[in-house]
Amino acid sequence: MSGADARRPLIAGNWKMYKTVAEAESFVQSLLPRIAGRAGIDVGICPPFPALAAIVDSTRGSSVGVYAQNMHQEPEGAFTGEVSAPMLAELGVQGTILGHSERREQFGESDRALQLKLPAALQAGLEPILCVGETEEERERGDTERKLRHQVQEDLTRVEDARLSEVVIAYEPIWAIGSGKVATAEQAQEAIAFIRALVADRSRVAAERTRILYGGSVKAENAQELLALPDVDGALVGGASLDADTFAAIVAAAP
Ligand code: 13P
Repeated sequence: MSGADARRPLIAGNWKMYKTVAEAESFVQSLLPRIAGRAGIDVGICPPFPALAAIVDSTRGSSVGVYAQNMHQEPEGAFTGEVSAPMLAELGVQGTILGHSERREQFGESDRALQLKLPAALQAGLEPILCVGETEEERERGDTERKLRHQVQEDLTRVEDARLSEVVIAYEPIWAIGSGKVATAEQAQEAIAFIRALVADRSRVAAERTRILYGGSVKAENAQELLALPDVDGALVGGASLDADTFAAIVAAAP
């Protein structure tokens, strides 16, 4: 197996700050029968912290993995309001989103912190989903590749080559998030192939295996075209992941 064949598609739903535990439970009860027949694909849901334990429990034995949306780089310490990788791993959480643009823009998440968070997640047995992407202004001034190069190179600095392919990367152009303005197939393929080439600069073997997702206004209507692109290994879905029917339709659209 090589290239895209070696990469199992991942469709993950980032719920952001939506759904109480009760709402999350009812989503899972509705989702599981809708995706039961779907083989050869990984499905992830990323609920807010309070719902993690309950959802790990109610998805046990299914194809759904549960991911957090953030974590602190230290295993423990005087960091009020933070949650560590070993605490998430103890719950049976499979991984965590790291470096989402909302955290970078609104909560001061830095490349420096991400350099520490990525190895800390791997060390605890968690699969990180590292988000990268350019603003509209950066795209317009032709700085997309420069931004992606900076984020991918900086954030992965402390991940050893042998573990690079355990990091999932999500290309999320900031202008496409929550805006209904989805990247064209050409833009998504081009940016994701570029990210793969950046990983290949570190390790060719890892680049063949690294799953790179597209995120930003993925809907049931546009999922099929995006997911069929050669370098796109899945999707990180925001708004459209909040409804079980819609999310199941996106899962069904994966090749
Ligand atoms: P939307 O799908 O709502 O645009 O959000 C994308 C996103 O931020 C996923 O992490």
